[in-house]
Amino acid sequence: MTNKTMRAVVLAGHGDLDKLVFRGDYPKPEPGRGEVLIRVGACGLNNTDVNTRTAWYSQTVTGATTGGALSSAKSDDAAWGGKPISFPRVQGADAVGTVVETGEGAEKSLIGKRVMIDCWLRDWNEPENANKTGYFGSECDGGFAEYATVDARNVYPVNSEWSDAELATFSTSYSTAENMLNRAAVGGGDIVLITGASGGVGSALIQLANRRGAKTVAMCGAEKAEAVRALNPAAILPRAPDDLRAELQKAIGASEVTVAADVVGGEYWKRIINALARRGRYVCSGAIAGPIVEFDLRVFYLRDLTLLGSTVPPPGAFADVVRYIERGEVRPLLAQTFPLEKLREAQRAFIAKKHFGNIAVTVGK
Ligand SMILES: NC(=O)c1ccc[n+]([C@@H]2O[C@H](COP(=O)([O-])OP(=O)(O)OC[C@H]3O[C@@H](n4cnc5c(N)ncnc54)[C@H](OP(=O)(O)O)[C@@H]3O)[C@@H](O)[C@H]2O)c1
Repeated sequence: MTNKTMRAVVLAGHGDLDKLVFRGDYPKPEPGRGEVLIRVGACGLNNTDVNTRTAWYSQTVTGATTGGALSSAKSDDAAWGGKPISFPRVQGADAVGTVVETGEGAEKSLIGKRVMIDCWLRDWNEPENANKTGYFGSECDGGFAEYATVDARNVYPVNSEWSDAELATFSTSYSTAENMLNRAAVGGGDIVLITGASGGVGSALIQLANRRGAKTVAMCGAEKAEAVRALNPAAILPRAPDDLRAELQKAIGASEVTVAADVVGGEYWKRIINALARRGRYVCSGAIAGPIVEFDLRVFYLRDLTLLGSTVPPPGAFADVVRYIERGEVRPLLAQTFPLEKLREAQRAFIAKKHFGNIAVTVGK
């Protein structure tokens, strides 16, 4: 390694875990106009890393996220935005670190500040245009490296006692969860059913819906129920009970919910939809158990339901999340850390789903 190179894990192409390659000589990026250079302290893992590596986003794929190479997938629609990405690519959206250099025109007072990164890249001439967005670590190099560059408007100094690794659990999951709740206009009178509640987005949904005063019902695997309970949902249900309405009745005294916030999808989906009350809202940001579902249109129209997709948050959602962190209204759920060099092992653990919350790699010397 020289001062022109750095340690990084690069994704060499779509495929299995062996496509993640550690390099000690990857070119160190230089901040361009309006950008900052960040020395990364830690970077959280996400399913986007896995789904992009395996090409799961391709519409040719119909099964659950498994983490293995999907040989049937096409590569021209294999990234989240439906367009190909280039390789080698440093993935990693949820980077936390210190600004060490600024490019021309970027605010110099950022140097030395510990920052979190808003992972949604904008066209700053049209920041509200969701069609002109990218994802840090997908459309540009991200945080599984010693250094990263990003537009100065994507970095947020953060005043918090949490470690870099703890702060690296927030960016994607919490801006996704907050956007889901905003899209479904969740407020104090709502009962929100949350799938995948032990995961990154699900655990964020519990905390963020609770802070709005909604009543939360968390669905998770039995072995994770105790950990989920610590987040204070009004009730916890198993991952996929046979009779969801009956379980709801037992747990909260009502057989229906006003909102379903779903990141799981798959075969169980029809029961989630069928648990919605008249005028209920279904909001979805993921389909880890599978993207193809059985949809009875009668449930949808006869009950006046609203279906909402949710991916790109408008500018401002991340700033709200940073405020909640600084005020102590949400707390990080860091399950485990791995050194950068062990990203493959970290991703293997992430895919095994034995953990609660999220996993991060640390990038110190
Ligand atoms: N649209 C976006 O911008 C966006 C952003 C973030 C994430 N996502 C997507 O949302 C989904 C969840 O993300 P996440 O970060 O919360 O994931 P995660 O941390 O991996 O958690 C997913 C949870 O889903 C539960 N689950 C239920 N059925 C499952 C199955 N068949 N396979 C695996 N897990 C299953 C697991 O909990 P139990 O074992 O307790 O049931 C697991 O903890 C992913 O598909 C991800 O790609 C989308």
